Amino acid sequence: MRVIVCDNYEKMSYEAARIFASQIIIKPNSVLGLATGSTPIGLYNCLAKMYENGELDFSEVTTFNLDEYYPIAHENDQSYHYFMNENFFSKVNVPEDNIHIPDGSTDNPALECKNYEKEIDRYRGIDLQILGIGQNGHIGFNEPAEILEPNTHVTDLTQNTIEANSRFFESIDLVPTKAITMGIGSIMKSKKILLLASGSGKKEIVKKLLSSGIDTNIPATMLKAHPDVTLICDREAYED
Ligand code: F6R
Repeated sequence: MRVIVCDNYEKMSYEAARIFASQIIIKPNSVLGLATGSTPIGLYNCLAKMYENGELDFSEVTTFNLDEYYPIAHENDQSYHYFMNENFFSKVNVPEDNIHIPDGSTDNPALECKNYEKEIDRYRGIDLQILGIGQNGHIGFNEPAEILEPNTHVTDLTQNTIEANSRFFESIDLVPTKAITMGIGSIMKSKKILLLASGSGKKEIVKKLLSSGIDTNIPATMLKAHPDVTLICDREAYED
């Protein structure tokens, strides 16, 4: 795992945006894996600026989001559909038909998961996947467990994740307890992975990630078995 430490959040976001942009410049029809959460917002802002300045064109790009709460309506302002539209898709020119986000409003989640995985495979995997990391080491919503699921699946969120995400909801009772998420195998099929970590709240897990072997109780350590992962973090998230 390559590690890039940046002075602050802005520099981390810009560094990630430069790598993301080069992927699109080299391969305009790239398949890109996207994450939600606080961490990639700076990256999305940088990409939107590059688009505005005419430096980047998303017209041939295809995207797959990592996850979505379940059940949740697309219009719910806490859904990842809403988040992605607000923070990224409304600001750039990714064609609507090329955007994939698990459907949190489906009444057949098992079929949704199967079709989502099939669709990733139809594109022969993701060229560049953006990931954040949970304080408990989750990637996507692959929570710490004895056994990790390889493919897109419905998962129960852990109390730790529910508490961490309750900052976005009016009350903790409103945080969904389930999600549809790409599995560890879906993520590992990506050709390149950029893992972002920012802020002192991530220091402990980044330290654990870098010092541990592969441990399903720290799902991000699975990335150590991938040949092309870059961790970009800010100084607050990294301890020398
Ligand atoms: C989001 C996702 C999660 C987040 C993680 C970190 O799509 O899959 O794994 O990346 O929970 O969230 P933040 O960035 O809010 O600390």
